[in-house]
Amino acid sequence: PEPGWTIETDVVVVGSGIAGLSTALGYVEQDPGGRVVLVTKDLLTSGSTRWAQGGIAAALDPADDPLAHMVDTVEAGAGMCDTDAVRILTEEGPAALRWLIAKGTAFDRTEDGALSLTREGGHRADRIAHAGGDATGAEIERALVEAVRAESRIELVEHAFVPDLLLAEAGAGEPRVRGLTVHVMGEGERDGVGSVLARAVVLATGGLGQVFAATTNPEVSTGDGIALGLRAGAEARDLEFVQFHPTVLWLGPDSKGRQPLVSEAVRGEGAFLVDAEGRRFMTGVHELADLAPRDVVATAIARVMAETGTDHVHLDARHFGADVWERRFPTILASCRAHGIDPVTDLVPVSPAAHYASGGLAVDLDGRTSVPGLYAVGEVARTGVHGANRLASNSLLEGIVFAGRIAARLAGEEPVAVVPTAPAAGAAGTLVDPAVLPDLQACMSRHVGVRRDAEGLEAARAELGRLADTARGPVEPGVAAWQAANMLTVATVLVQAAIERTETRGAHWRADYPVTSPLAQGVCSGLGVDGLAR
Ligand code: SIN
Repeated sequence: PEPGWTIETDVVVVGSGIAGLSTALGYVEQDPGGRVVLVTKDLLTSGSTRWAQGGIAAALDPADDPLAHMVDTVEAGAGMCDTDAVRILTEEGPAALRWLIAKGTAFDRTEDGALSLTREGGHRADRIAHAGGDATGAEIERALVEAVRAESRIELVEHAFVPDLLLAEAGAGEPRVRGLTVHVMGEGERDGVGSVLARAVVLATGGLGQVFAATTNPEVSTGDGIALGLRAGAEARDLEFVQFHPTVLWLGPDSKGRQPLVSEAVRGEGAFLVDAEGRRFMTGVHELADLAPRDVVATAIARVMAETGTDHVHLDARHFGADVWERRFPTILASCRAHGIDPVTDLVPVSPAAHYASGGLAVDLDGRTSVPGLYAVGEVARTGVHGANRLASNSLLEGIVFAGRIAARLAGEEPVAVVPTAPAAGAAGTLVDPAVLPDLQACMSRHVGVRRDAEGLEAARAELGRLADTARGPVEPGVAAWQAANMLTVATVLVQAAIERTETRGAHWRADYPVTSPLAQGVCSGLGVDGLAR
């Protein structure tokens, strides 16, 4: 449908987690007259940020330094990190954290008032700042939402789904993103279909965990930004590197959708994994044992489960006692107890579940995708800081550091004259019946999980092809069908990337190619791979 209303602004941000909120705030801070429209497909607080437990990493301890943080990040990334991006992340990290504090984030402090710093998998120093014990993301989201609401130059539009990016010509026919169309399910001035014209679109749409049956991600994490970017011709990279969090509360074999996380910080404080016989199995697997990088722990758990014929293992943190559980991990304690498990006296059943997309839309050090005018930040972006396996608690940090860089670039940039052309190849014309999603998610978890091989990946490709054929019958246009189309696109491109990487690296364990290749390369543009993207 034709847009019923149009807003002209300087920058439009899509998404309201730490990356989107920080970009909007950073931009208006640095451009005195600048205006932002921030659209988000659900409520402002519905994204992944508020679920982040463990914390945010930065070299803030006097005994730590950014270089040590860089070394741990690159090691976890298994040869796939962009070291320039990691240097920026770790060097600019402490200032970014201070910016968050200035915006009102109340991190936990020690008795003498210093930041309380803990450790997580793959870190060799205490450098994880946390809030509310294990509710770090919720506190950051609260502070940033308050700051954004207080800023009159940021217009917020909630319940706003973006079906299309708008393209224009700039200069010698160079395609450039010029804004987006938006479908608002609300009331009042911004209801229905509209468009937002801006000189830059910043995608901060988060992750894609919902393409799997079991994930720590909220319902909104459906890979929309990746699908939007691919349709506009942007390059994506490293999509095969989906990180599976090792310790997600196991709620039974048929449990689907968002699953409760048991933060790695619990192991950081001394909890350990045991098999069905009560034996510790991480000792000897890696020098950091239970605090090895996440891919190492998830793979070890998958092996133990396969060897013992079980679908979960256990986390033992009974020795913490009630006091430590109540003070340090109140959220996890409550969520375990709500499911009938008392971690003060019981072992906690856990298994890996899809957690984080280490890849995404390829961007440079200022967040620019390969399409002029289109930026990406946070989980949707592939900056190169995570490589093949993100280091714990680097994701919130990446969100603010690269948001700050995008904001600075946009604030310093001269506007470009453009001639409007057309929407990027339209999601609006690509509808998928949402009824196929349970099959899609089951297929992804079965064949594209922690352990992968050619047979399973080919089965996944065939199944997604079959779903694509059956899903394109008469479908009611609307958000559910556009979102399902995005999920099918992203799942298909991810499977293709996993098929093409015939080696084991980081979070991508190919049981049929157990060796890590000396060459660490790979680009997947994804365009046209599924026949839906055009
Ligand atoms: C956790 O608390 O274990 C999750 C932290 C992260 O994903 O970085």
